[in-house]
Amino acid sequence: MRISAVIFALGRGENYFGHIAIIDATANAAAQSPSARDNRGMKVKTQSKKVNKAWLNDHVNDTYVKLAKQEGYRARAAYKIKEIDDTLGLIKPGYCVVDLGSTPGAWSQYVRRKLSPVGAAVGALNGRIIALDLLPMEPVEGVVFIQGDFREDAVLSQLEQALDQTRKVDVVISDMAPNLSGIGAADAARISHLVELAVEFSQKHLKSDGALVVKLFHGDGYSELVKLFKSVFRVVKPIKPKASRPGSSETFLIGMGLKEMPVQAVIDA
Ligand SMILES: C[S@@+](CC[C@H](N)C(=O)[O-])C[C@H]1O[C@@H](n2cnc3c(N)ncnc32)[C@H](O)[C@@H]1O
Repeated sequence: MRISAVIFALGRGENYFGHIAIIDATANAAAQSPSARDNRGMKVKTQSKKVNKAWLNDHVNDTYVKLAKQEGYRARAAYKIKEIDDTLGLIKPGYCVVDLGSTPGAWSQYVRRKLSPVGAAVGALNGRIIALDLLPMEPVEGVVFIQGDFREDAVLSQLEQALDQTRKVDVVISDMAPNLSGIGAADAARISHLVELAVEFSQKHLKSDGALVVKLFHGDGYSELVKLFKSVFRVVKPIKPKASRPGSSETFLIGMGLKEMPVQAVIDA
């Protein structure tokens, strides 16, 4: 393990991004160390250096971290979307996929390979991928990237402009996770808000048989979000992929096929 790189990245804080290509999965280890994450895998402050070191050791020995390094993924998160996709067969050749909260880019890398006629990280791409994040993202070949806050109208407009005006989106995937304040109710509200915005975006831009994948957390607000999904999608499935750490309350909700909107709602929209 390149300890100097880890220490360097830890010292830079959560917004540091410049070295990501160099320190790769090790940087992700640093960015996701327990000093910066709670049991949701969310960013919060402090824990002892001892725990930090133990966590880094666990991380470096983690099967998915090793696999991500071997297979050239920027983060072990790639295996979460892979398992969801393998289970439900969501992403198919020719599809238009929107990746929300895309940085450092592992989900985009996975989708890019899935849309390649030969499963490649470069070269021909049969489909379209638009990724968006608050933070910068190292380019993924063939992926259009927009940097900005998904909650802002101006950023949403940029995303809408990037979409092919003649066709709708096949799949929206959202791994967006806000920084936490440590105040339970406020944090739950932030998480719910991002999920609600992803649902709203999907209602407007998904094909009628399209799908939305969101990350969310068990706890405050979870059952309301499941209700929201059930009111919008014909089929709703929760999946906790194996790559999602067992101690984390992180889980994923997948909505498939939009329900028809009542006539009044269509008039109001
Ligand atoms: C867990 S990471 C995503 C990892 C990514 N799926 C991958 O595979 O590399 C969560 C991302 O959500 C982004 N995010 C959080 N709130 C956001 C917002 N309001 N708008 C856009 N991105 C946001 C963060 O900047 C962060 O990069």
